[in-house]
Amino acid sequence: MATHNNPATSRQEEEVAVQAKAQAVAGACQLPSGADLAPCTIVIFGASGDLATRKLIPALYNLFANHGLPTSFNIVGCGRTNLSHDAFRDNLQAALHREGGIDLSHWPEFAAHLYFIPLHYDVLTDYQELHRFLTKLDSATKTGANRLFYLAVPPTLYPTIAELLGQSGLSREQEQEKRWARIVVEKPFGRDAASADALERTLHSNFEEHQIFRIDHYLAKETVQNILMLRFANAIFEPLWNRGYIDYVGIVAAEKLGVEHRAGYYEQAGVIRDMFQNHMLQLLALTALEPPSHFEAERVQDEKAKVFRSLKPFDVERWSENLVLGQYAPGSIDGGAAPGYREEPGVGPHSSTPTFAVMRTFIDNWRWRGVPFYLASGKRLARKETRIVIQFKQVPHSMFRNVFEEDIVANRLILGIYPEEEISLTFQTKTPGAKDCLRPVTMEFKYYQGYRGPTLAAYEKVLLDCIQGDHLLFWRQDGVALTWSFLSSILEVCEVCSMTNQRLHPYPAGSLGPAAAQPWMRLLMDER
Ligand code: BG6
Repeated sequence: MATHNNPATSRQEEEVAVQAKAQAVAGACQLPSGADLAPCTIVIFGASGDLATRKLIPALYNLFANHGLPTSFNIVGCGRTNLSHDAFRDNLQAALHREGGIDLSHWPEFAAHLYFIPLHYDVLTDYQELHRFLTKLDSATKTGANRLFYLAVPPTLYPTIAELLGQSGLSREQEQEKRWARIVVEKPFGRDAASADALERTLHSNFEEHQIFRIDHYLAKETVQNILMLRFANAIFEPLWNRGYIDYVGIVAAEKLGVEHRAGYYEQAGVIRDMFQNHMLQLLALTALEPPSHFEAERVQDEKAKVFRSLKPFDVERWSENLVLGQYAPGSIDGGAAPGYREEPGVGPHSSTPTFAVMRTFIDNWRWRGVPFYLASGKRLARKETRIVIQFKQVPHSMFRNVFEEDIVANRLILGIYPEEEISLTFQTKTPGAKDCLRPVTMEFKYYQGYRGPTLAAYEKVLLDCIQGDHLLFWRQDGVALTWSFLSSILEVCEVCSMTNQRLHPYPAGSLGPAAAQPWMRLLMDER
């Protein structure tokens, strides 16, 4: 029977119920218990490198400390250095200590699961030796011969390692006994369509698609995962999410850091390969895709592939209408002098590698026809900020036209990814008071508001998904091929740019990019 209590009391009860529901959901969303995960051995190639020591081992350690790793597991580091198991453990402990901010009280228990096998990446007998070691370890530690091979090495080594994992029998799965073997690779997946295809053939001649995990760490960011939830678990956004109501979409990944110590890689890559072929186009796909029938890897990948296929081919003849490329020149960041790109260690004085790009692209389908998508990313900009801007159209008819002098600011939805993990919606309200005036106000939701459970860093999520065999947050090969094919004409412009040293706009470090890009950048980033 419905009761009509004091409204204040029923409001309180309602709030308590909402809080209780939120707590229950938060509980259900926490880490899977290690006991529910299949036992396995994680083999890290390049175990003494930067990626392993700065990202993978801390992520695995945190998972372990939160009981998020399988009850039986091993981590076997491989690399060219000749290290004993103990020296490997000590090196890692020292590295985590240097990183700081990690409570190492569980280290001794964690370290007992660590091993090191020296290996030359191109020597088959070393893989055979690794195979023998893993077989012994499996029976000693009951890890069921499930293996995850993580290639934390330069991408030039991917084909060699994949090939020798195949030849040594390590890539083989045993379906009857449900033993799995998975390989994890990080971008770049090739440097153009042809090399991506060659890499693919090598991977596929040794592993099947379901065994391959292609990482894009942006997909594991909480706020990026949230895009599909926001769009498809709410009824109020989707009806407006199309060319009828949206004026433009902006996707920005601005960075304050320069090229740091990665000039060797970056000189070959440039911003288009480094940020657009992967993170930027994934963000675009998540923003633009049609609702998948299920929240399940294959269905989501199918919809992403449709978006990539619908990207309007870039017109090279009229490239300057849709693309601005830049390179940072000396400037200042946080009040200190910052060198130009050409003065960075390992970069030549005449380098014409773009460190900034903003492009306008269109998706030729029913939903998005005619809506510009602005994609911008650059190094050494004024601040680090990653966000997606959904700019709605003006109201179709302003009945206030003759009442107020000011323009009516159109609605804007911002999905903040960094530094603010938030959703904000700007809309018009009446200014309080006797006079009829409008003012734009912003409603903000901070992503961790009302949540008190543990959080999962991007690499923790990625590793957990690999262990669980969930491909939702990874690239599928058709997506890789389609994005390279879309970008090939833009890369052509970059090549010409490097041959002629033209078309590249310098911008001072610490600015918002080249002057030529400012009309678009003003649409995407707020002035501060
Ligand atoms: C990497 C790029 O993939 O992403 C780097 O290679 C870039 O150049 C980085 O700095 C940015 O990632 P995040 O998570 O800091 O925005």
